[in-house]
Amino acid sequence: MTAPPRILVLNGPNLNMLGVREPEIYGHQTLDDIREACLARAGAADVEIDFRQSNSEAELVDWIQHARDSAAGIIINPAAYTHTSVAIMDALALAALPVVEVHLSNIYRRESFRSHSHVSAVAVGVISGFGSQGYLLAIDAMVRLIRPGEEG
Ligand code: DQA
Repeated sequence: MTAPPRILVLNGPNLNMLGVREPEIYGHQTLDDIREACLARAGAADVEIDFRQSNSEAELVDWIQHARDSAAGIIINPAAYTHTSVAIMDALALAALPVVEVHLSNIYRRESFRSHSHVSAVAVGVISGFGSQGYLLAIDAMVRLIRPGEEG
């Protein structure tokens, strides 16, 4: 029996504060709530989830580098690093894995500086504006990317 494919789910800075952080923008769910929902969705799809958060750009880069040999795909909400980090974009490019970018809010209807994402250039697709449900949509999308035979 082979091990189920592992999906790395990365969360950038300040997402550890979900629940108290601008709930009118980001919702009332905590990151733990989102993690639990992701684990349930992954279990149903027979994939493994490695769910992490860091406020540090360097730590996120290290995790992405490591994923090259340990994960089948990367779902990432880079948070503010979306708009600033060439380092995260470069790390994702070198990981050579399918990438799905997620944002809780719709970054295109907010301040103009949020409308540009460095990460989108290396992502298969972007899910933005559906709140925590976006993570579950991203898992569904990733499962199809890593198991292309299973259209549902
Ligand atoms: C975010 C959007 C970013 O612009 C912001 O810096 C975040 C969260 C989102 O999930 O909507 O921290 O990525």
